[in-house]
Amino acid sequence: MARRFRQNLGLIVGASAGALALVLLLSPGREVWHARGPLTSGHADLDCEGCHRPAPGSLRQQLQANARHLLGLRASAADFGLQPAGNGECLACHDFPGERHPVFRFNEPRFQEARDVLHPEHCVSCHLEHKGMPVTLPDIGYCRHCHEETRLKRDPLDVSHAALIDAGEWDTCLGCHDYHGNHRMTVASQLGEAIPPARILEYFRGGASPYPAEKKFEARREPLR
Ligand code: HEC
Ligand code: HEC
Ligand code: HEC
Ligand code: HEC
Ligand code: HEC
Repeated sequence: MARRFRQNLGLIVGASAGALALVLLLSPGREVWHARGPLTSGHADLDCEGCHRPAPGSLRQQLQANARHLLGLRASAADFGLQPAGNGECLACHDFPGERHPVFRFNEPRFQEARDVLHPEHCVSCHLEHKGMPVTLPDIGYCRHCHEETRLKRDPLDVSHAALIDAGEWDTCLGCHDYHGNHRMTVASQLGEAIPPARILEYFRGGASPYPAEKKFEARREPLR
């Protein structure tokens, strides 16, 4: 009986401390306290609301729902304050007509295998936020999941695409092509002119971009909604 009481007391004290911490964290002007980590440099001065819509319900309802979840009375926790960001939020600033690999395309049945390993249908599969990195996918050769069959009728390269693909040289692809096709650039036709894989990885991790700065489409600073 006494043990049970201590356990319950522990729960109540724990839940109250948690609730107090959350109230503090959610007070206006304190958003940064509960952000998970640094935004990628291009996003540094965006508002949280640019990517996270306010979660449904008042703060009090959210607190109640989460207290009930902690006590095992509710199946799932409620979103606190901000909803998670997905394609819709990203595309509100980044949608452009020339996109070479639009996410929606990869919901087609023929991309099932790629979906299983790569999830190319979600922006955050390659661009997790709050890591201070522009591209979080660690694999620069991920083109392999879809371009095994790529053959050019008249291949302009000194080492043909067919030869590169047969030799499994997938780390070369991003050295000549950007993924979205949004940089204004001439595509190299000599393998020796390709951006070296190490520079691309450096960029993924937060270094300077090896691609030309000029873009066909500039991202919006205010989401289109
Ligand atoms: C409110 C507008 C807005 C929203 C929403 C937004 N972005 Fe951006 N994003 C920008 C701006 C502005 C830049 C900087 C200019 C540029 O790179 O075109 C940028 C840059 C980027 C870059 C380049 C990396 C860098 O640091 O410059 C990536 C990658 C990116 N955004 C991905 C995303 C993803 C993924 C989402 C959804 C989770 C998203 N963005 C949501 C406006 C937005
Ligand atoms: C450019 C878009 C973008 C901006 C701006 C942004 N976030 Fe996020 N945030 C995301 C994405 C995408 C996720 C999903 C998980 C991830 O990427 O790690 C996320 C996850 C989170 C999470 C974890 C929620 C969960 O469900 O795991 C919190 C908390 C959070 N963001 C808070 C903030 C705060 C506070 C700000 C403002 C300082 C902010 N975010 C600005 C894109 C953004
Ligand atoms: C399968 C991986 C992958 C997915 C999914 C993906 N990206 Fe990217 N993205 C990349 C890579 C790799 C780069 C660096 C090469 C480049 O600049 O094209 C990049 C670069 C960017 C850039 C900076 C260059 C530019 O075009 O301005 C932005 C912005 C961006 N992505 C936004 C998005 C958005 C928004 C989505 C979802 C609609 C998305 N990405 C989905 C891999 C991905
Ligand atoms: C999830 C599947 C998928 C992945 C991953 C993928 N691609 Fe593609 N790519 C496509 C599809 C689909 C097309 C459209 C052409 C087609 O239907 O065959 C395409 C087209 C292209 C084009 C031609 C674009 C044009 O407008 O003519 C280039 C270049 C390209 N991809 C390069 C790459 C590179 C480089 C990578 C890796 C960084 C990559 N792709 C990763 C599916 C993919
Ligand atoms: C040395 C530079 C270089 C490398 C490395 C390279 N490409 Fe290309 N690629 C080109 C050029 C040049 C073209 C033709 C012009 C264009 O489409 O921009 C092209 C065209 C393409 C096309 C369009 C084909 C079409 O139907 O028009 C695809 C898809 C493609 N490359 C995918 C890849 C993949 C996947 C890899 C990695 C195995 C790769 N490329 C490596 C330079 C390169």
